[in-house]
Amino acid sequence: MTKKEKLWGGRFEASLEDWVEAFGASISFDQKMAKYDIQGSLAHVTMLGETGIIAAEEAAAIKAGLEKLLKQYEDGQLVFTVDNEDIHMNIEALLTAEIGSVAGKLHTARSRNDQVATDMHLYLKAKLKEVLEKLDHLRQVLLDLAQEHTYTIMPGYTHLQHAQPVSFGHHLLAYYNMFTRDSERFDFNFEHTDLSPLGAAALAGTTFPIDRERTADLLGLAKPYSNSLDAVSDRDFILEFLANASILMMHMSRLCEELISWCSHEFHFISLSDTFSTGSSIMPQKKNPDMAELIRGKSGRVYGNLLSLLTVMKSLPLAYNKDLQEDKEGMFDTAETVTVALDILAGMLDTMTVHKEEMSQATEKDFSNATELADYLASKGLPFREAHALVGRLVLECTKGGYYLQDVPLERYQELSDLIEEDIYQALRSRTAVERRQSLGGTGFEQVKEQIKQAKDDLKS
Ligand code: ARG
Repeated sequence: MTKKEKLWGGRFEASLEDWVEAFGASISFDQKMAKYDIQGSLAHVTMLGETGIIAAEEAAAIKAGLEKLLKQYEDGQLVFTVDNEDIHMNIEALLTAEIGSVAGKLHTARSRNDQVATDMHLYLKAKLKEVLEKLDHLRQVLLDLAQEHTYTIMPGYTHLQHAQPVSFGHHLLAYYNMFTRDSERFDFNFEHTDLSPLGAAALAGTTFPIDRERTADLLGLAKPYSNSLDAVSDRDFILEFLANASILMMHMSRLCEELISWCSHEFHFISLSDTFSTGSSIMPQKKNPDMAELIRGKSGRVYGNLLSLLTVMKSLPLAYNKDLQEDKEGMFDTAETVTVALDILAGMLDTMTVHKEEMSQATEKDFSNATELADYLASKGLPFREAHALVGRLVLECTKGGYYLQDVPLERYQELSDLIEEDIYQALRSRTAVERRQSLGGTGFEQVKEQIKQAKDDLKS
């Protein structure tokens, strides 16, 4: 068998068989980082030229070649091969074809280990910016909806049972807050991503007088990693991304679950726009919330990606190990999944119709005002426990009779307690119940308005 030429082939007498080579290759997926790989090389060669590690003309020739490749990549003209294993060796091979043997100087004072880590930092930094922008947009959509629905009343649930009426705006603001915390987590993640491993070389640094500050600067990264072993072995920035994305998907899946319930026949609190719904191939009447279900479902694959990388990293000794090649697909998949899910969710919320009347009617024929009656008695001096027991017995009486607290005649109320007066009927209204919950962070309209005001200032800054 003839020996295949490999970039690293010097010490080998025989070649990998094709199927073994295919097992080790990452080009099928790491080509997603082609642009960043070329950018990393451009920064590296600029520095090599500036420091005199290679001659200025050599650096200029390599730069010109890389720029040509970048252009060809953007025009969709670069062809990658499995023979060249990964994106780094593919780019180097293409560069050599373009400019000849001077291309061989590019890899001075560098290794694929710092190169691949650099590519991933650049890729993820760009994706994090996108995720943060899309999260801001989703938060804005929620805030606008919350403002529009400050006075829209809905049943608040615990255990999925009617609990107490709340403002729909207040309910939406709870999600706004979750997405704000997601944003903060991605911001922190951004700091750990905004670092340059370039110049760590294989693991130990290099004997060449490189300038790592300069390459970090050229790449727009805040600073170099301070330890070369850590630089090539660290994948925490990706794990953080996957963990943050998992929490974000969990939040989105909770909201999607509510949207799915709310647009059911039983709730009918909202209708999703046709532009975000699908039909059935057999049941002509169907309008399904597929997109919300998919976001709920896709949270599973994002959790899977987190678990998968945590498992890859577990017990891995320093420094680079080929296991680390398994860090990429889950990162790409997660970045692509969360960015589109954020757009879909914002789009669904932005275009849905809220059936305000039905939402608030759902609080009319129920016992979600039972706490109001107990609070009414407690505020007039009856110990809350006694008030609770009295109202509990009355609820039972109503349930047996098939009527509600607002239907109980005043005479009956006054038999139960002489603390009860005519104004009880006003107190029992769900609107009153919401309005009066003015404790900090509560559902009272004034509190909701205050929360919106704060959120708006927050989002601006
Ligand atoms: N394709 C490799 C990866 O993604 C690049 C680094 C290879 N380094 C090495 N020493 N084999 O991890």
